Parts: sequence; C-alpha cells; structure tokens
Amino acid sequence: MITTCVFDAYGTLFDVAAAARLAAAEPNRDKLAQHWPKLAEIWRNKQLNYSWLRAITDTHVDFWTVTQNGLDYALEALGLDGDPKLRERLLQLYWELQAYEEVPAMLKSLKDSGYNCAILSNGSPDMLNGAVRSAGIEPLLDAVLSVESTGIFKPHSSVYDLVNAQFKTTSDQVLFVSSNGWDAAGAANYGFQTAWVNRAGDPMDRLMATPHHVLSDLTTIPQIASK
Ligand code: LAC
Repeated sequence: MITTCVFDAYGTLFDVAAAARLAAAEPNRDKLAQHWPKLAEIWRNKQLNYSWLRAITDTHVDFWTVTQNGLDYALEALGLDGDPKLRERLLQLYWELQAYEEVPAMLKSLKDSGYNCAILSNGSPDMLNGAVRSAGIEPLLDAVLSVESTGIFKPHSSVYDLVNAQFKTTSDQVLFVSSNGWDAAGAANYGFQTAWVNRAGDPMDRLMATPHHVLSDLTTIPQIASK
C-alpha cells in the first residue's frame, strides 16, 4: 500500500523551460526570443550531463554550480554569452520557476487523503526552497529532500535511500514520480513504485528498469497512489 508520494523537482513539479521562455518575452531580448527553446534544451542537457559526470568521477559540486556551468555552455554555444545581465536574469528566474498548473490541486488531494508528500531532488536546498516558496506549495510538502546530504547526484541509490530514512517506509510503500526517464528508471530499479511523467511523448529510455506507470501530466497521481 502506498503511503508516501515523492516527486522529482525540476521538470516534474517545476517547468525548467520557464526561465528561458519568460526571459525571452522581456523587452530587448530579440536574439533570445529567436533561440530560447534551443537555449533551454542545451542548458538542461548540459546541466544533467555534468551532474552524472560529477557523480561517476567522484568530483561532486552542488546543483547550483552545474546549473551555472550548463547555462554558460549553452549561452556560448548560441552566441549569447556577451550579455552578463541576461545570464543574471536567467539564473534569477531559475529560483522562481513556476509549478505546472495541476501541481497545487494534485498535492492538496494527496494531503487530504493522508499521504506523505515530498520532493527528492538533485537541487541544492536553497534553490529548492526558493522554487517551493515561489510556487506556493510549501504547506503541501512534508519534506524537501536534497541530494546535498549525500554528496552525489541521482540516480545513485544512496539518494533514494533518503526517502525511507525520512519516512520510515519500505520501498513498496513509496510512489516516486519523475518526468526524467533516467530518474524513473533509477527509482524503479531501486524498488519504488514509479510513475514517469512523459509530457513530450518521448520514447522510453532503455535503461536498467522500466517505470510502472507512464502519464502525460500529474493529474492522475492521487488515483494511482490509491490503487
Ligand atoms: C531534480 C532534477 C533531476 O530535480 O530534475 O532532481
């Protein structure tokens, strides 16, 4: 029986493309307006690649550092690196990411039914607290768990250990929800019940395990948890 619903943060609860999209809509951002989807894509890919490379080479830095490193790579790749104010603005927006629109009602429904709700994220505690506060979902979460207490990024199993340590659960009592196919695979391999939120209709990652549920958004999480 599921007692605890745990969510990945970036891309799952928070729209990571929003920083580039919102900055591109601001005045005098013509070049960004042309390139923002590519910027968002390269930024995210590099951020994640750097997190895995840091993990396997045992050279951990926090997620804020790999987020800045990924952005600097993406800005240079697109010839947008000559504008320090743009860099600053994009990073500022990353602390204020919007939650996907169904998130507050979905979390409220889980809380009303008595589930523990938490975030388990690569994000550093400060970044996560900024995003949680700006999305207004702080009162709906029992814990915001960051990899920083383990010093290694997901999908290392010691990160998933944080959930059972926090809630005194066994893995079969946990529904783990992520939009990242590799994170859903890592969590399913660990032993959690797992839902992959596939908003873009991407192919399934070919990895060590497959998620139990594949969803197009988060609205059905309360039904899945109660099954
Ligand atoms: C996180 C990244 C992987 O929040 O999206 O952990």
